[in-house]
Amino acid sequence: MSRPITLELDLGALNHNVKQIRKLAPRSKILAMVKANAYGHGLVPIARALANSVEGFGVSCSEEAIYLRRAGIKQRIVLMEGCFSISELPSLHSYQLDIVLHNSRQLRFLTQQSFAKPVNVWIKINTGMNRLGFSYQDFPDVWQQCQACPWINVMCVMTHFASAHKPTEATTLRQIKQFEQTVKHLAVEKSLANSAAILTQPNYLADWIRPGLILYGVSPFSNTCGVQHGLRPVMNLKSEIVSVNQLQPGDSVGYGELWSAPDSRRIGVVAIGYGDGYPHRAKNGTPVLVNEKLVELIGQVSMDMLTVDLHSQPDAKPGDPVKLWGSGLPVEQLAIRTSMFRYELLCGINRGGLIRMHTKESNDAKNDAKKND
Ligand SMILES: Cc1ncc(COP(=O)(O)O)c(C=O)c1O
Repeated sequence: MSRPITLELDLGALNHNVKQIRKLAPRSKILAMVKANAYGHGLVPIARALANSVEGFGVSCSEEAIYLRRAGIKQRIVLMEGCFSISELPSLHSYQLDIVLHNSRQLRFLTQQSFAKPVNVWIKINTGMNRLGFSYQDFPDVWQQCQACPWINVMCVMTHFASAHKPTEATTLRQIKQFEQTVKHLAVEKSLANSAAILTQPNYLADWIRPGLILYGVSPFSNTCGVQHGLRPVMNLKSEIVSVNQLQPGDSVGYGELWSAPDSRRIGVVAIGYGDGYPHRAKNGTPVLVNEKLVELIGQVSMDMLTVDLHSQPDAKPGDPVKLWGSGLPVEQLAIRTSMFRYELLCGINRGGLIRMHTKESNDAKNDAKKND
């Protein structure tokens, strides 16, 4: 057996989160955002687990989309940044992928070559994010060009919020107003809401919602955890104690001697570090679960190891389970402690692809499966 790090996906929690989202938006279709390797959770296992409960998937590039198609995903797949070059289009078309259309260069790509079957596009309108999308002034002409092109099928018009995670900001309402004024007369599906808007803008959920973070059970607001919104974490990041050392008073641990034992202390060495995506900036006192009980991280996080204070666990030994985040220890807590972006913590895990992944179906999922038998 190799290093004992595992990324355990709780598919019961995923299933639960989708049901919570459906309760919030019963009339909307769900475009599950699985870009960035499903926010670090693993693109294919997450998409397969969601395949019967969502209407489509949002990815950031053709590689992700084609990978999903080849893994047997039949649902709508939308490239959220559209195509990057004209040469990409024939293959996107042959895999029946939808593309976001957000600038005039992409529109030229689409109109310069002809296609026998329709190309499904989602036209993105910039209402204040100022990242991707046509301005409301340019949109009518883009709409006309799309209508006039025999092979372009406009599936949806969409916009994206800049500050939905700050519910008191006026920007979101301004963006909604601008979007409505631009598209309200059009008989086409519409999409606005990301996770934060799904939780805060019940009147503007429209035809398609686009949840990312809340699917994975994590709160999009800086001061709450997913559990406060009825969500359950999907990712459990686990490892084991690989060594236990007895320190004498004043002995330090790790690079830079950033922590010294105040008295005679047992410390545990855990097989995970910043090379695996655990944040280097986590400092003394960061919570970690050993045998499902809270202990504190001590010293500097190394590339493939970190150390914990075991004084509250005199019986802890090599091989004992350690949880870095997940159920019982929300990733949001670590994000707040380290002043890190929760999205970044999730996406940063397992970039090297060396962490073993396994799925766990909690009782909810098993019961649902039985009902469907
Ligand atoms: C266009 C678009 N919609 C929806 C989302 C999902 O956002 P969240 O994870 O905040 O729900 C993203 C994520 O980056 C996005 O780019």
